[in-house]
Amino acid sequence: MTNLVTGVILLLLSISGTVFAGRDFIGDFLRLPLDASRFLHRSDDDEVGGTKWAVLIAGSNGYWNYRHQADVCHAYQLLRSGGLKEENIVVFMYDDIAFDVENPRPGVIINHPQGSDVYKGVPKDYTGTDVNVNNFFAAILGNKSAITGGSGKVVNSGPNDHIFIYYTDHGGPGILGMPTYPYLYADDLIDVLKKKHALGSYKKLVFYLEACESGSIFEGLLPEGLNIYATTASNAEESSWGTYCPGEYPSPPPEYETCLGDLYSVAWMEDSDIHNLRTENLHQQYEVVKKRTISGDSFYGSHVMQYGDIGLSKDSLFAYLGTNPANDNFTFVDENSLQPPAKAVNQRDADLVHFWYKYSKAPEGSARKVQAQKEFVEAMSHRMHIDNSVKLIGKLLFGIERGPEVLSSIRAAGQPLVDDWKCLKKMVRTFETHCGSLSQYGMKRMRSLANICNAGIQTEQMAEASAQACVSIPTSRWSSVQKGFSA
Ligand SMILES: *[C@@H]1O[C@H](CO)[C@@H](O)[C@H](O)[C@H]1NC(C)=O
Ligand SMILES: *[C@@H]1O[C@H](CO)[C@@H](O)[C@H](O)[C@H]1NC(C)=O
Repeated sequence: MTNLVTGVILLLLSISGTVFAGRDFIGDFLRLPLDASRFLHRSDDDEVGGTKWAVLIAGSNGYWNYRHQADVCHAYQLLRSGGLKEENIVVFMYDDIAFDVENPRPGVIINHPQGSDVYKGVPKDYTGTDVNVNNFFAAILGNKSAITGGSGKVVNSGPNDHIFIYYTDHGGPGILGMPTYPYLYADDLIDVLKKKHALGSYKKLVFYLEACESGSIFEGLLPEGLNIYATTASNAEESSWGTYCPGEYPSPPPEYETCLGDLYSVAWMEDSDIHNLRTENLHQQYEVVKKRTISGDSFYGSHVMQYGDIGLSKDSLFAYLGTNPANDNFTFVDENSLQPPAKAVNQRDADLVHFWYKYSKAPEGSARKVQAQKEFVEAMSHRMHIDNSVKLIGKLLFGIERGPEVLSSIRAAGQPLVDDWKCLKKMVRTFETHCGSLSQYGMKRMRSLANICNAGIQTEQMAEASAQACVSIPTSRWSSVQKGFSA
């Protein structure tokens, strides 16, 4: 009798992973009876110990990118309700949304059509041009002396601590946006994570990433063994999606001409908002978020991916996000967790949606209408300029037939975007020298530049082709290189 009880308890413990941190865990969940799972998760909590830290970053600015900062504010409120302390949450946001003239509710930011204000109380650790790659890396590494500007808050973590990093923005193959230049490159981020691991200053780290082609940030790059578990909004070769956009369902209140959130982001946050996070683990959330983000079909959605130490995903969300005591009676069950699919807008088209709604709603003949039309046309012609120049460069380098094929080829799963990241950055600078800034939209073309490196093209050849393809740099703000290179 006693042996049987001990045996069952040992079995439960080993399956729930509180005893063995096996790496081979995937899929298949044992659904424990409620009491057993409560009992087990309680003991899990005691083991969590240490301090919970978080870094939240919105990599964009501009009202048409409202949703990224709305996501970050929402994440901040979620973590505070979960019990994390302000001093342990480092927030990076440009902070130009709440009081933008376009904002119909000045001083308020919402992340859901019926949502309440998520802006109030969010600390202004790094705003404006202090939102940059250097400060982001220094904050993760806990290196206060490397910070410039801002509040100086960094992740001053120790070996027992858990760290949660959430990044939401535009991106492209191998690259994440910033409101400042340079942009963030995948190889540099992975180096920082390796450095943080070598410092021995965390126990486990979870990274949630929303951006176009976000899988490419970790694919073939994030090794196992760093105690890092990452999930991304999309795989390495597709867009991620904005949601709660004008004209879509559900749509924002009529006075909003911008998307309020991002599909993957609201999926993990709205799931976390309503559950006792002691009863839900990272893997369960991954499954729920994956289902919601594919959005019924793969035309209006993306494939959520996971990377790194997948075994970590059997940890309860509580270990990273805490839990809101008001949800203590809301145990996670799959059945009530999936929101109906929403119609979404491709990240890259969300700015056009904004300019279009602004244009169509403005009174005939008003200055606002003229302005919106100008913005729309400028954004469109920047896109055409980038697409055409890159295509032409491909043809100049590889021939009319092979050019398009080389530029668009995709490496096998598990392989990084490019072998020589220095080459990629050089190619970006060379392109921008002759053709102007890639900007937000141009990140899409990063795979073409990577393939130019993978094909062994030298910088001099690239410079020559770029000079031929781009006779001059267009004068629009999107093309301006005044603020520097994106690499
Ligand atoms: C912190 O940053 C400074 C300045 O960039 C650098 O010299 C130093 O090596 C860094 N320290 C650590 C521990 O990374
Ligand atoms: C959870 O349920 C118990 C028992 O019904 C009740 O006493 C407690 O107040 C509830 N907790 C919350 C946070 O609602």
